Amino acid sequence: MSLTIEVCLTPKLINQHTLEGKIAVVADIFRATSCIVTALSENATAIYPVSTMDECLKLGTQGMLTAGERGGIKIKEFNLGNSPFEYMGKVSGKEVAISTTNGTIALEKSKNAEQVIIGSFLNITATINYLIDQKLPVIIHCAGWKGAPNIEDTLYAGALVHQLIGHDYLAKSDSAKMALDLYRRNKNSLLKIALESDHAKRLKKFGITKDLDFCLQVDKYPNLNGRLMGSKIIKI
Ligand code: MLT
Repeated sequence: MSLTIEVCLTPKLINQHTLEGKIAVVADIFRATSCIVTALSENATAIYPVSTMDECLKLGTQGMLTAGERGGIKIKEFNLGNSPFEYMGKVSGKEVAISTTNGTIALEKSKNAEQVIIGSFLNITATINYLIDQKLPVIIHCAGWKGAPNIEDTLYAGALVHQLIGHDYLAKSDSAKMALDLYRRNKNSLLKIALESDHAKRLKKFGITKDLDFCLQVDKYPNLNGRLMGSKIIKI
């Protein structure tokens, strides 16, 4: 019998899905999960996603680096913002506590899943191979923006659905079919459509443009996966 793949377009809708027994792939393409995958590629030993700034700062008093943003802007008390470039050359051998506007909320709300892994275009093939190997139903949990769906996370979800149905997965739910359609219509111009998103435009207003190109690189890290194990994300 085919394994199912579902898409949850925003954490506001996650209670409409059953997480138990499934692998949740959390996607916040601009930029939290792209940052997490980059941090793991830079040999951060572990990343601790937390929902509040205070929790993050408390972990900072325990020697962790603190990283994150609100509304796309770096939190001034934190060591790092939420650009993948801020992790480069700075986190090797270190633990990082991260808190962001949407991504860490989606991670928190995925915890009842059998497994929680980190999705990004940067490591999409590694993720697909891992999912196929695990042989569990999949739910792609899009972080969206403050409760609303967004283009970039939905596009990523569609890319995953497109690949997995080619391996006998069944796209369950209209949201999976919507995501698949968005991807298929734009698969030869992913950056172009992603730059149409509200958050891309918001970040561009802040002068943040190179992050957008970076986060849409397919398979920059072709063999890397991150998994949430208890309170921390580690390389698997
Ligand atoms: C998010 O949590 O939505 C993103 O991390 C926001 C950002 O990095 O700009």
